[in-house]
Amino acid sequence: SSGASCEFAQLAGAVDADGLRTQIDELATFSDTPAPSVTRILYTENDISARTYIKDSMKSAGLTVREDAIGNIFGRWQGTEETSVVGTGSHVDAIPYAGKYDGVVGVLGAIEAIRALRKVGFTPRRSLEVIMFTSEEPTRFGFGCLGSRAMAGSRNIYEILEGAMDKDNISFTEAARTAGYLKEGEDLKSVAVTNETYSGFVELHIEQGPTLENEGKGIAIGIITAIAAPASLKVDFKGDGGHAGAVLMPFRNDAGLAAAELAVAVEQHVLASGSIETVGTTGVMQIHPGAVNSIPREAHLEIDVRDIDEDRRDMVVEKIHQSAKDISNRRNVELQSFDVVNQDPPAQSGATIVEAATSASAELGFKSKHMISRAYHDSLFMSRITPTGMIFIPCHKGYSHRPDEYSSMEDIVRGVQSGGDVRALEDVR
Ligand code: GLV
Ligand code: MN
Ligand code: MN
Ligand code: MN
Repeated sequence: SSGASCEFAQLAGAVDADGLRTQIDELATFSDTPAPSVTRILYTENDISARTYIKDSMKSAGLTVREDAIGNIFGRWQGTEETSVVGTGSHVDAIPYAGKYDGVVGVLGAIEAIRALRKVGFTPRRSLEVIMFTSEEPTRFGFGCLGSRAMAGSRNIYEILEGAMDKDNISFTEAARTAGYLKEGEDLKSVAVTNETYSGFVELHIEQGPTLENEGKGIAIGIITAIAAPASLKVDFKGDGGHAGAVLMPFRNDAGLAAAELAVAVEQHVLASGSIETVGTTGVMQIHPGAVNSIPREAHLEIDVRDIDEDRRDMVVEKIHQSAKDISNRRNVELQSFDVVNQDPPAQSGATIVEAATSASAELGFKSKHMISRAYHDSLFMSRITPTGMIFIPCHKGYSHRPDEYSSMEDIVRGVQSGGDVRALEDVR
């Protein structure tokens, strides 16, 4: 739009830090666990309350709100021209005992960027759309980015979701209907968008690692060039169980020990990759029946493996599978299942978005650094349908997925300004 430079120069003063802080704090009250922790699981009461809060915030910023069948929420600022749309956004679901910034900064921050753009008199040529994605976190159904995967039309996602069950045997479909989505006659496939819909997508997020803070050179902004490839596995072992006093050691087949051995094997295979970029975590390990005087009869593990190099990540997954089989044979414990829940490729950011974000932060006077994201984000899937990039801001000691996660308002506002400077985004493609 004309006179753009003068408008954008005012952007710095136009972001309402106090208003944004209040919203972040208010949203955090929708939680299944006490403050300062935040727990917000897909389609639960608190998730639905948070959704209402986001829709109200979008409406008060003058956005036109729409939801799709899976519950992705879109707030659109109509542009003057009928062209493809500039998208931005993130998620507001939270894993158990998480903090209040992960995802939230990229949703409420994006809405605040729109408010600020209105204040400085900006008129968008392309429509701008804030997206709140459904279930970036994998907590309820075992794999993440449900909303963005479905938008990107990733292969099999619709069938997988239709068959997905949570730990209480509630199906995805039933859970979605309870929350008011996936109504009778509505089809999950309708969530898919074409590659022509968006001209670009940018996601603002806390770093969730210590790099920006540790640089110690006042680097305020991380610009993401690639997102590491995530995979997750579910493994079940079954033995005979029995009395902890009466069954002698040679006659046991302890499913719990098989699980423990596999967890250690995960660490060994990851370390053997030879790269610091390979990471693996056994984040869930449950034994049944879970009594001190009972030999574990069943064990359930959930394992997360990631790497910026897809082949190396896949090799580790294969070695974990081999170990599960070996342990099962050696311990005479049945390997009931070894499911690769997801095994996604990494993503490269769009060069145009990286350039736009780099020049925006430079013009705003912020030092930035190009880096990779080892955590995954909805941007991993948005990158399949449109040039995508991410803007990271520092967070205290890199803490994330824990209650003491913290980013200062100064850093959040710098992130909002960098994302709000949309001049370059208007011209991508
Ligand atoms: C998602 O939040 C992840 O685990 O990276
Ligand atoms: Mn997270
Ligand atoms: Mn997140
Ligand atoms: Mn994430």
